[in-house]
Amino acid sequence: MRPRSTRSYTYILTSRPEPSVALITLNRPKALNALSSALMTELNQALGEADTSKEVGAIVITGSQTAFAAGADIKEMKDLEFSTAYSTDFIADWARLTQIKKPIIAAVSGYALGGGCELAMMCDIIIASPTAVFGQPEIKLGTIPGSGGTQRLARVIGKSKAMEIVLTGRTFSAAEAEKWGLVSKITSEEEGAVVTESVKMAKQISEYGALAVKAGKELVNAAYELSLQEGIRLERRVFHSLFSTGDQKEGASIQLQEFLRFIFFLGMRAFAEKRKSQFKGE
Ligand code: CAA
Repeated sequence: MRPRSTRSYTYILTSRPEPSVALITLNRPKALNALSSALMTELNQALGEADTSKEVGAIVITGSQTAFAAGADIKEMKDLEFSTAYSTDFIADWARLTQIKKPIIAAVSGYALGGGCELAMMCDIIIASPTAVFGQPEIKLGTIPGSGGTQRLARVIGKSKAMEIVLTGRTFSAAEAEKWGLVSKITSEEEGAVVTESVKMAKQISEYGALAVKAGKELVNAAYELSLQEGIRLERRVFHSLFSTGDQKEGASIQLQEFLRFIFFLGMRAFAEKRKSQFKGE
């Protein structure tokens, strides 16, 4: 699948492999997709556009076969001083990705190092090619991860492994990442398979009710920030609130229909009418 831009950017390509899926391809091949400020500005613009689009239900971010992204742009930041980094809050804008409400899948092939690994971890689901190489090698540059690497890695793979990865700077394979729960799925090695699989999953998600999808994303993310009790209370409140949506009335399953009618006094029409749900995002 060759990406074609729907509008003009310099360091990324944007396309719609499906009408409901926005595909963003990092495109600085000569620098292994090093995440320069200019690239990140474009990525944030494209993400913002996809998030507000009425047609798009899910987003895929990918790189090339060789590199998802080899980290922050070392050449751009090598002479940076503390005063500038602090006063401009250097790379704080990277976190705009985490404010996007629609699900984002990282389709990772090749290097996902430093900021590249952090970018993938900011996404909601990581799908990897067997060739993917993850790592937080910043220690070898006399620094530490600066965009959530220490925090997200520790939460997902645990303290001991996160310490090893951050303090030795060693890379880890797609197979290790899947075993540790960082990666949800490894695709075949065939070129483009990781994007094809990611777009397929994004399309599936985009066909569900947009409000329920956003709520599901918000609640899973809340699990990283709230206590179990707070998270479960919030989940129940949001679960209750979704009974006010047209999509909930529309979707349901046939065998449980009478039971659900009895319990919830609901129509759940598609379920009853044995047809595919037509969600409207309302
Ligand atoms: N920044 C800027 N340029 C980079 C880059 C980076 N992170 N990674 C690779 N490049 C450039 C190289 O400088 C090289 O450019 P030139 O041809 O102009 O010299 C080009 O990409 C190809 O790279 P290599 O020749 O090094 O390719 P390789 O196949 O021999 O090695 C690699 C690949 C192992 C990924 C190696 O490029 C590498 O180690 N890159 C740096 C990885 C890294 O340390 N990332 C962390 C950055 S710091 C960070 O991300 C901080 C944070 O938390 C936000």
